[in-house]
Amino acid sequence: MRVVILPTEKEASDFAANFIEKFIAEKNNTVLGLATGGSVFSTYDALIRKYQNGRISFQNVVTFNLDEYVGLAPNHKQSYRHYMNKNLFDHIDINKKNTHIPECLDGNFELTCSNYESLIKSHGGINLQLLGVGSNGHIGFNEPTSSLKSRTRVKTLTNNTIHNNARFFGESELQPSIAITMGIGTIMDAKNIILLGLGQHKSRAVADLVEGPLSSFCPGSALQNHANAIVVLDQLAASNLKLYDYYIQSEKMNVEYMS
Ligand code: F6R
Repeated sequence: MRVVILPTEKEASDFAANFIEKFIAEKNNTVLGLATGGSVFSTYDALIRKYQNGRISFQNVVTFNLDEYVGLAPNHKQSYRHYMNKNLFDHIDINKKNTHIPECLDGNFELTCSNYESLIKSHGGINLQLLGVGSNGHIGFNEPTSSLKSRTRVKTLTNNTIHNNARFFGESELQPSIAITMGIGTIMDAKNIILLGLGQHKSRAVADLVEGPLSSFCPGSALQNHANAIVVLDQLAASNLKLYDYYIQSEKMNVEYMS
């Protein structure tokens, strides 16, 4: 696992956006896995600016989002489809037909989930998956104790996650407590993974994810078993890492060696 620690949220987000830009430039027909939430806002903003400056095109990119709330229609302003359109897709040259979100409005959850898995496979799998991390260590909506081999399915959200995401909902708005999410096994099948951890409130989850035991109690710790995972952190999110200095030093050597 490569751990990149940068001074600020902006620098960490720019690192992720530059990584994605380079990846898309080098790999024709990139299949990107995407996340929603606060951690990826600035990365999407930076990608939009790159598109506007003519540095990147999404014409040949296919995307798969990690998750979607059960019961919210795509045009609902709290749905993750709405989030993705508003924060990325509406501002770039992607064909919306190539953007996929595991939404299910007819109640046929099993079919939706297995179709989502098949669709990912039919595109040859995800080349690069972007992730955030919950303050309880979840990735996607794989809450603590999720099977490390799980596939796309319906998950009940923990009170912690509901509480943390309440900031996106108005007081009288219904906040769903279940979601469809790619499983940890699905995420682990991505050929490359880049996870963003930002802010002090993520520091404990980040320490468990990077340095804790491999455990379904911290679903993100599964990434320790991934061959190509990069964890990008701002200083605050990294502040509980025991080997903080080591990560800084090895990244410095990495950069010197590569240049
Ligand atoms: C979002 C997702 C979640 C978030 C995580 C962090 O699609 O799957 O795992 O990445 O809950 O959320 P923020 O970034 O809002 O702190």
